Formats: sequence, structure tokens, C-alpha cells
Amino acid sequence: MDIRVENVTYIYNPKSKDAKKALENISFEIPKGESVGIMGKTGSGKSTLINLLKGLRKPTSGTIYIDNKDITKKNGILNKVGIVFQYPESQLFKETVYEDIAFGPVNIKMSDIEDAVKEAMEFVGLPESFEEKSPFELSRRRTEESSDCRNYCYETRNLDFR
Ligand SMILES: Nc1ncnc2c1ncn2[C@@H]1O[C@H](COP(=O)(O)OP(=O)(O)OP(=O)(O)O)[C@@H](O)[C@H]1O
Ligand SMILES: [Mg+2]
Repeated sequence: MDIRVENVTYIYNPKSKDAKKALENISFEIPKGESVGIMGKTGSGKSTLINLLKGLRKPTSGTIYIDNKDITKKNGILNKVGIVFQYPESQLFKETVYEDIAFGPVNIKMSDIEDAVKEAMEFVGLPESFEEKSPFELSRRRTEESSDCRNYCYETRNLDFR
């Protein structure tokens, strides 16, 4: 997935006297397959940027392309950007790992939920024997993997549902 951010500015509450410019004229490109870390002090706009990439907020100005598609044209879309939280356990809350991974697909009434879960587990390397375990009795590594599966399962397969 290629990400291209062009001249993006984001202002919170732009019309009020509390207007806050969080990002100013940001441009960068992340080619497919590249891993990038974003560093910056508190309040420098990291979370704002992630929210924009996810389509949760729209830039005040500028454009964001994901795989050459302008995502700023749509409102609140679920795009191909998955977010894995620093504390992955905060994303897991069902009784079994399977149910947790299947949560997204079930929500959007995906037709091949079982296949989607299997594919995600295979891709991430989480053995099938974990399906029936409780998400709360996993090691750190398996918790992270379950969380990855859940993202993978939903984000890479929901594209036809927009
Ligand atoms: N909902 C909001 N309304 C108004 N201003 C906000 C809002 N969210 C963030 N800001 C402001 O926008 C700027 C960027 O905040 P942001 O949360 O993106 O920074 P950050 O780099 O993620 O910080 P941290 O390292 O603390 O997580 C900050 O000045 C912050 O006060
Ligand atoms: Mg932040």
C-alpha cells in the first residue's frame, strides 16, 4: 500500500477562537512495503496524522492518497489503514480468540468469515489451536498476534463493503 500525503494542514475547531493548527503543510510518501516510525514530542501532531490516514478526520487542506486514491474525498471511510494499539489487549474483549478476530467481519456481515479468520491466522502465524482460547490468557506475543489478526481480517478484506 502506497501512502502519499500532500501539503496537508489540519486545524482543530477552525472557525472558533480556540482554533488549533496541529499540522501545517505536511508532505511525505511511504512506498509499499516500507516501515516508517514517526517521532515527535507531545503535541506535535502524530495522533492527528494517524487519524487523517485512517480517514477519521479530513484535512483542512491538502490531499492524502492511498494507493493513488484520494481518501480525503470520502467522509469517515474505513480505508486500508489498520491501527494496532500500543496495548493490544485493549482491543480484545470477546470470549474466544476466534470471536475476537471475527468481530469486524461479523459486524459487516462478511460472507466468508471462517475463511477470513483462517487466512488472517495463517498470515500472522497464530496457530489454529488458539481459536478457542480466551484472549485474556495469552502471552504478550500471542496477544499481539491476535490483535494483528483482527486488524488483518477486517482491514484487508472489507474493501468491497464501502
Ligand atoms: N480534539 C482536539 N481539539 C483541539 N486540539 C487538539 C485536539 N486533539 C489534539 N489537539 C491539539 O493538536 C496538537 C497535536 O496533537 P496530537 O494529539 O496529534 O499530538 P501527538 O503528537 O499525538 O501528541 P502525544 O505524543 O502527546 O500523543 C496539540 O497541540 C493538541 O493540543
Ligand atoms: Mg498522540
